[in-house]
Amino acid sequence: MKKVAIIGAGNVGGTTAMRIAETGLACVVLIDVAENVARAKAFDLEDARYSLGRDTRVEGSSEISRISGSDIVVMTAGLPRKPGMTREDLLAKNASIMKDVCSGIAQYAKDAILIVVSNPLDVMTYLAYKTTGFERHKVLGMGVNLDTSRFANLISKKLFIGTEHIKALVIGSHGETMLPLPRLTKVRGKALIDLLEKKEVERLVIDTRARGAEIVSLYGSGSAYMAPSAAIYELVETILTGHSKELPVSAVLDGEYGLYDVSIGVPAIIGPEGIERILEADLTSEEKEAFLQSAQSIKNSINSLNIWPLEEHGL
Ligand code: LAC
Repeated sequence: MKKVAIIGAGNVGGTTAMRIAETGLACVVLIDVAENVARAKAFDLEDARYSLGRDTRVEGSSEISRISGSDIVVMTAGLPRKPGMTREDLLAKNASIMKDVCSGIAQYAKDAILIVVSNPLDVMTYLAYKTTGFERHKVLGMGVNLDTSRFANLISKKLFIGTEHIKALVIGSHGETMLPLPRLTKVRGKALIDLLEKKEVERLVIDTRARGAEIVSLYGSGSAYMAPSAAIYELVETILTGHSKELPVSAVLDGEYGLYDVSIGVPAIIGPEGIERILEADLTSEEKEAFLQSAQSIKNSINSLNIWPLEEHGL
C-alpha cells in the first residue's frame, strides 16, 4: 500500500485525507502540532470505513517521524489568509513553519515526492526545495492547477458547456500576478479569445485571479479547501498511479523560460518521478513579459527571506 503523509490537519489537509481515504488510493498519515486535531480527524475518517466500504488506514499524530516511508508528503501547514490579506502577507510566518517542517521531511522521508500547498505558494515551493535539498523534479507546488480548474469552471458557467470540453491554462505565480492564458485556452478545440468578446474574456481572467480572495471574504475566516484538495488529489493520483499527465504546477526552473533560482507555475508532465518534464508554453512577447514580471515578483519575495545565510547554518 502506498503511503501519503499530510502535514497540517486543517481544512485543506483534512479534506485531502478524506479524498484519498475514500478512494483507497493510499494510506494516510495526518501530522499537526495540534495532535488532538490530527487524531480526531484520523478517527473521524476511519469511522467512515464501514459505511463507505473502504478500509483505508488513517493515522493522526504530532510526531513528524511518522511520515517515514511515505511516497508523497503534502505540505499544507501554515496560516491561511484572512479577509483583505494577499497570499504574500503570509510570507514571514509561513517561511519559518516551512523551514522547521522541511528539515523533518529531509530527515524522515528523503525518498518522497513533496507537494507544497502553503502560501505564498511559489516562494514556499522554492524554500522547500532549498531546505530539503531534494532534486528539483521531486518538489512541486500546487497552485496553478487549482487556478486552471477555477478558470475552466468560470468558462464553463459563462458558455454553458461541460468542463470536459475545456482545456484551460493558467501559468505564473499563484498570487496577484497569476496569468490565465485565454489565447491558449481551448473550448472544443477553439481558442477562448475567438468565442467571446474581449471584455468578457478580461472579466473571466480577473474573476479567476480574484477567486481565492472572493472565497476567503465569503467565509470570513479561512480560505478555500474543496477545490484545493481536489487539485492536490489530482497530483497525488497522477504520481501514484503511474499514468503521466500534463498538469500545470509550480516548478523550480533551471534555464527554462530563461529563468533560474525561482519556482513558478508552468505546464509540466507529472508522473511517478514527480515532474518528468517542464513544458515551455508558446507565449507571445506580451505574455512572456507578464510571465517574467510574475517571476520577478516571486524572486523579490524569495530574496527578502535571506535564504542564503540559512544555508550556511545547514538548513
Ligand atoms: C486559494 C488558496 C488555497 O487559492 O491559495 O484558495
